[in-house]
Amino acid sequence: MGFGKDFLWGGALAANQCEGAYLEDGKGLSIADMMLGGNVDTPRMFCPQLQKDAFYPSHDAIDFYHHYKEDIKLFADMGFKSLRTSINWARIFPNGDDKQPNEAGLQFYDNVFDECLKYGIEPVITLCHYEIPWEITKRYQGFYERKTIDLFVRYAKTCFERYKDKVKYWITFNEINGATMPVGRYNGVGLVEKEDLESKEPIPKSKLKDVPQKRWQALHHEFVASAKAVIEGHKINPEFKIGCMICHIPWYPLTPSPEDELIAQEKNLMFNDLCGDVQVKGIYNPIALAKLKKEGIDLSFITKEDKQTLKNGCVDLYTFSYYMSNCISANPNATKIKGNLSGGIKNPYLEVTDWGWQTDPLGLKWTLKKLASRYPGTPLMVVENGLGAKDIVEADGSVHDDYRIEYLKMHIEAMKEAVEEGVPLIGYLPWGPIDIVSMGTGEFYKRYGFIYVDRHDDGSGNFSRHKKDSFEWYKTVIESNGEIL
Ligand code: BG6
Repeated sequence: MGFGKDFLWGGALAANQCEGAYLEDGKGLSIADMMLGGNVDTPRMFCPQLQKDAFYPSHDAIDFYHHYKEDIKLFADMGFKSLRTSINWARIFPNGDDKQPNEAGLQFYDNVFDECLKYGIEPVITLCHYEIPWEITKRYQGFYERKTIDLFVRYAKTCFERYKDKVKYWITFNEINGATMPVGRYNGVGLVEKEDLESKEPIPKSKLKDVPQKRWQALHHEFVASAKAVIEGHKINPEFKIGCMICHIPWYPLTPSPEDELIAQEKNLMFNDLCGDVQVKGIYNPIALAKLKKEGIDLSFITKEDKQTLKNGCVDLYTFSYYMSNCISANPNATKIKGNLSGGIKNPYLEVTDWGWQTDPLGLKWTLKKLASRYPGTPLMVVENGLGAKDIVEADGSVHDDYRIEYLKMHIEAMKEAVEEGVPLIGYLPWGPIDIVSMGTGEFYKRYGFIYVDRHDDGSGNFSRHKKDSFEWYKTVIESNGEIL
């Protein structure tokens, strides 16, 4: 009973949110570098041209680029079995289509992976975590143009060949399903319309023009790019375990009215399941396709050859992020609430965090059981979960983050129940084991870590690292394989 003996306990990061060194050693700009910070009420601004003297949180982030040895040592002290991070595509191909990969970029990740392996930490590597090279966005509108499929596959092959003996677990695209909604047009598929690209002024990210036809086409190109990468990866090392990554949000009907039930069914399909079905089963769900057609999307971009590629390039494992659940209702006056990638309707049974996300550990159990039934035989991995909160540093440097411990504890308990009820869960990698830049709001103020980093939204801070109370707690959780919470 309980978690298996090889269960992968650890944590998850993304290059653009932790590394900094945004132009160091030959790195090019990525789409993440073009965003200013905001906060819970102020949206992040997208800057088609970098503004002088403005503070871009990803440019230095927490400077993992120069602190990786110290940070990985801290993760090892907590007993990590695994660390998820991403390779920043623009470190390897600064312009996306460079003739040769950038050796200094490749070397940096060799160093990071070697450091992990030194402590027996298994790397889980995302190839694209909202880090499309900016040049690809400028020239090809991200994944809208088919050419970007080839650029991605070349980048993936370069990484697979270089790290084939160091990395076994790979993820192609982070939260690929974000692009089923307007929110994913920029971070997810790197698509910016010409008029926005030419703007001299920063634009609130939420105001970027969305063209659903182009966004769905770009998402389809990511599916094809992912499938081709899976095929190539397995040729390079048949032992590779390559996963999809879905932002999974359970959508509950607000009431038992059949209208609410139907809306919830459709939302779960379009947001959660459409992408997983393509990547795990190699097929587009016919009900989802019919809905898109009805909305006026011309699906002729799904060619016969692409369909075959999707079938041949199914993933080996299903990874997902889980932070919260949402309600949905046919009633337009139901109370709205914020959330990760997508807000929804307020659930009267759930508490919300300071950023308005509804805490729902049982929703994680619901998700795990649903996925195990939908994709029987496919191993599951939680590669993001956690509480973004304000932390208070005491005079002696301590941070008493019992709220974070409570949140994680409830989610681990829910996972344990799911495992005991037959779910093939192989790992738990909570988000931001060390404080990093928030993706949604671009803040340092919203913190997830077991390790506090002295870095702030006004650009101040000395980058020093301090253990929070949750550090020792998580260490005990790992030591006891999830028995002592
Ligand atoms: C996920 C992303 O959606 O949520 C991460 O994959 C992100 O990049 C995480 O950081 C938490 O969201 P936020 O907005 O609190 O950083």
